[in-house]
Amino acid sequence: MSAAVQIESRRESHARLLTFRDRVNELLSKQLTDLPAAPERLLEAMRYALLTPGKRIRPLLTYASAECFGLALEAVDDAAMAVEIIHAYSLIHDDLPAMDDDDLRRGRPTCHKAFDEATAILAGDALQAFAFELLAQTDSSASQRLRMIKILAQACGPAGMAGGQAIDLAAVGQDLSLQQLMHMHRLKTGALIRAAVLMPASLAGVDDANLEALTTYGDRIGLAFQIRDDILDVTGDPEVTGKKSGADQALEKPTFPSLIGVDSSNRMMHELIEESVSAVECLNDPTLLVALARYIVSRDS
Ligand code: IPE
Ligand code: IPE
Ligand code: MG
Ligand code: MG
Ligand code: MG
Repeated sequence: MSAAVQIESRRESHARLLTFRDRVNELLSKQLTDLPAAPERLLEAMRYALLTPGKRIRPLLTYASAECFGLALEAVDDAAMAVEIIHAYSLIHDDLPAMDDDDLRRGRPTCHKAFDEATAILAGDALQAFAFELLAQTDSSASQRLRMIKILAQACGPAGMAGGQAIDLAAVGQDLSLQQLMHMHRLKTGALIRAAVLMPASLAGVDDANLEALTTYGDRIGLAFQIRDDILDVTGDPEVTGKKSGADQALEKPTFPSLIGVDSSNRMMHELIEESVSAVECLNDPTLLVALARYIVSRDS
């Protein structure tokens, strides 16, 4: 491919991904306008945490994976929303005083600062339940729905995000080995990212070879995503990340930069991305998955 064609194809992918972002933003905002039985303050806190301008990487991955397997975007709208809703819940709880005790998220006060701790905890709980409600009522067969619910539940449960967060908290002030750090990152962040690409694959009923390719892709970008997050905590500009810098070091969190330094972390992250790209080369149309993998390591926020 010539350089000009490559630039044009990158531009097209970028434009397509932006339409995915608009799509999920609109859907999420609709979902949270009309919940008549919900107490207004709880609903406000849920909206506050969910409808702030996040990157929406996980739903973008869900849509990109769907396109790769020839699914209509409508078929994965609920999955795309569900994964972002789980992510929003995880951020609310991650910022709580009992966890990372952060005041700033997406350039605004964290949910417990804008509301109060109890409301923030409940908003997280309610978002988690709401994500599964959406998946349970998605327009597909009962067995497809069940498969997606299982993928998402495993990703955010004890052997996924919640488990990873538990390891993260227990690791404060501890020296972890590289293997242990990778395991923690794979659970706390990687699992949900993997689920974002696997839900459409399960809907499409892909064969084992494609599933393996996609699982490797999700695993590598998931780990790389958290390495980039660790690096941005050291080198990022809070005006751009919307989060306080140096928070990991202040809390004595084991991170990639603290264990192997920024340069080696960068190298490892790029290697992981190359592995993720090679893994999906065999798929029918991996263009958007490749574009997202490259974006994950170049992002500044
Ligand atoms: C931040 O996630 C928390 C991590 C798992 C590293 P994102 O970087 O995706 O945050 P938003 O959604 O764009 O704010
Ligand atoms: C968060 O990791 C992972 C989650 C499961 C939310 P971090 O604690 O590093 O995320 P940030 O830096 O606060 O966004
Ligand atoms: Mg944390
Ligand atoms: Mg945090
Ligand atoms: Mg972080």
